[in-house]
Amino acid sequence: MDDLYYSDYIELDKILNSQHPKSFSSMEEGNDEMLFIIIHQAYELWFKQILFELDLVRNIFIRDRINDNSDDMSRVVQRLKRIVKILELINQQVSVLGTMTALDFLEFRNFLLPASGFQSKQFRLIEAKLGLKMEQRYKAEYYKHTRRGSLSESDLQDVDQAERESTLKELIVRWLERMPFFDEKYWRDYHRASALDDENKHQFWVDYRNAYQTSLSESERGRLKEFGKVFFEEGRGDISPVAMRAALFITIYRNLPILHLPFELLNTLSEIDELLSNWRYRHFMMVRRMIGIRAGTGGTSGAGYLEGTLNQHYAFKEITEVATFLIERSKRPVLPNTLKEKVSFNV
Ligand code: HEM
Repeated sequence: MDDLYYSDYIELDKILNSQHPKSFSSMEEGNDEMLFIIIHQAYELWFKQILFELDLVRNIFIRDRINDNSDDMSRVVQRLKRIVKILELINQQVSVLGTMTALDFLEFRNFLLPASGFQSKQFRLIEAKLGLKMEQRYKAEYYKHTRRGSLSESDLQDVDQAERESTLKELIVRWLERMPFFDEKYWRDYHRASALDDENKHQFWVDYRNAYQTSLSESERGRLKEFGKVFFEEGRGDISPVAMRAALFITIYRNLPILHLPFELLNTLSEIDELLSNWRYRHFMMVRRMIGIRAGTGGTSGAGYLEGTLNQHYAFKEITEVATFLIERSKRPVLPNTLKEKVSFNV
C-alpha cells in the first residue's frame, strides 16, 4: 500500500527547488540573495492564503441576504480575523530582511533588474478585491503594462477583472444599505412620533444630530455641516449616505447583541486597512535604508513613490472615519424596545 508521504502531500520538492539566485552558483560565493528570494516567496504564499480567505468572504456576501445571526456571519468575521493575523505575521517578517544591510543588497541588486515587488500580481489582487480602484492609486500611470518594470499585460488584465467583480467594499456597502434599522415596525414606541416616510427626517436622526451638535467644541462647528453631507446628501468616498448611516448606527449601538458581529466586521475591515498600511510603512522605511532615494528596480521613484501609496491606498477609510461623528455613550438617543428586542436580521 502506498501511504501518502508528507513531502508528496505538500509538494515540497517543487517549493524547495524553486530558489535560483542569479548572483551566485555555489555556497562559497553565496550572499543574501537566497534570503531575498525566500522571503519574497514566503510573502507570496501568505498573499495566496489572504486571497483565498477574501474570495470565501466575498462569496458569502455576494448572496442577496445573510442572516446576521447565522454561521455565515461568524464565518465571515472569523476569516477576516485570520487575514488580520496573517498581516500581523507578515509585518513582523520585514525585520528578518532588515538583518540584510544596504551593502549586502548591492551585491546582487543589479541582477534582478527590472523585476520588482511592484509586479506582485497577488498583492495587486488583494488591493483590488478589497476595493482599491486603479483611478484611486497613487501614480496610476506607473501601472501601464507598456512601462518597463510594470505589470505584464495578462497580470494587469487579471487585476482589472478583479476590480470589475464585486469587491469586498462594494459588497459591504450593499449589505449596509440593506440594514432594516429604520423599518416602521421597530419605532412605534420611540419617545416621539417619527416621520417614518422619510428616513432623512427620522426623529432618531434629528435627536442624534442635536446631540452631535452639543458635543462639538467651538472650533469644530463646521463638522455639523459635514454630518449632513456625509449621512444625508453625498455620502463619503464610494459609500452612500444610507450605508454611512448604517455604519454609524452599528458603531454607536455595538453593545446590542444583534450588532456585535456587524460591529466586529466593520472593526476588522479597519484593522485590515491599518495593518496593510503598517506593512507599507515598514517596507518604505526598509527601502529607504537599503537604497536611500535611488529609483526602484521596478523603475518608480522608489521611497518617494512608496510614501505616496502609504498616504493614499486605503480601502475602508470612510468606515474608519465614522469615528469623527460619534457622541458620548450617555448622550445616545434611547432606542425603542421593539428594535432592541429584535434578535436577528436577514439582510
Ligand atoms: C531589500 C528589500 C526591498 C527593497 C529595496 C524593495 C524596494 C522596493 C521599491 C523601490 C519599490 C517601488 C517599486 C520599484 O520601483 O521597484 C517596491 C515595491 C514593492 N515591493 Fe519591495 N523591496 C524590498 C523587499 C520587498 C519584499 C520582501 C516584499 C514582499 C513581497 C516586497 C514587496 C513589494 C510590493 C508588493 C511592492 C509594491 C508596493 C506598492 O506599489 O504599493 N518588497 N519595493
